[in-house]
Amino acid sequence: MTDHDLKSLASSIQAVSSPFRNYLNDLYEKYRSLDEGKVADYIPELALANPEWFGICVVTSNGQLFEVGNCDRLFTIQSISKAFIYGLALEDWGREYVNSKVSVEPTGEAFNSIVLDEKTNRPYNPMVNAGAIATTDLIKGNGSTERLKRVLDLFRRYTGRDLEINVPVFLSEKATGHRNRAIAYLMLNFGMVTDRIEETLDLYFQQCSIMVNSHDLAVMAATLANGGVNPITGERALDEHYVQDVISVMLTCGMYDYSGEWTYKVGMPAKSGVGGGITAVVPGKLGIGTFSPLLDVKGNSVRGIEICKDLAKDFGLHLFNVAKPERDLMEWLERGESVDDW
Ligand code: DON
Repeated sequence: MTDHDLKSLASSIQAVSSPFRNYLNDLYEKYRSLDEGKVADYIPELALANPEWFGICVVTSNGQLFEVGNCDRLFTIQSISKAFIYGLALEDWGREYVNSKVSVEPTGEAFNSIVLDEKTNRPYNPMVNAGAIATTDLIKGNGSTERLKRVLDLFRRYTGRDLEINVPVFLSEKATGHRNRAIAYLMLNFGMVTDRIEETLDLYFQQCSIMVNSHDLAVMAATLANGGVNPITGERALDEHYVQDVISVMLTCGMYDYSGEWTYKVGMPAKSGVGGGITAVVPGKLGIGTFSPLLDVKGNSVRGIEICKDLAKDFGLHLFNVAKPERDLMEWLERGESVDDW
């Protein structure tokens, strides 16, 4: 499916009104004036983001689309890439080998902490920088061009469109990412990564600099919710056997040192990035993509967290919810796509 096909499909679905779309509009209005948090500036290019940008998109696992705000606005995917790259590493090497290189324990520490498991020298999980760099090291391919091509093709399958790298962000991160370089060399010292270290760091910085919008993030999450098949294009992005691995780590580690509270309050496998995006999965049901570059001190989007909290509460989307929700989402969605019904 071409970009054009995808856009017209999206806008034809989007044109129809529905109660869920009205709900999202209200949510957008409720949080658009929330101006807590700060745009990331530790990568100089990221400081150029406009704090007003705000988008919310929901895609169901059967391909219905609901969006409000700046859902076309592109930003860099940053750490959100880590979850999807982990899936590719699992496909490349299998669970056992990947697990011998990267553990799956939450750290309770910041995303850029320099800490490895004392006994095994493994980084704690694929969502912190150390684990993500070790995971990127596992991406197969003959040289930098082929590895990058595989990474871009992965995200094409997840989003249904060709994505580009924001070169100034990539160069900005490459020039200033001394801490990531230190982490990579520490892991090389322990034999946890191969010695093509600069190539892997470049690939890591490039994967973080891929441009997406909140629509893409929702489709990516919906793909995981749909067992690894993109619900819009029908293309498989991830072997169904590894979906469980990816979303488990997202649930336990995806929101960094906020992951415990996130699981308690929201209860959705999710991943955030310092570009301001959050992608959240409701398995079997839907994917959520939010974008607002105002971040809290832990690096998570302030408005994105509030949106997901409200969706979880109002529709009972917390993974472990057993109580009757205030609103039955599936009922709303089933009835919502025909204007005649309303
Ligand atoms: O390694 C870095 O610093 C970034 N490229 C990724 C960081 C990130 O998104 C952490 N997120 N909350």
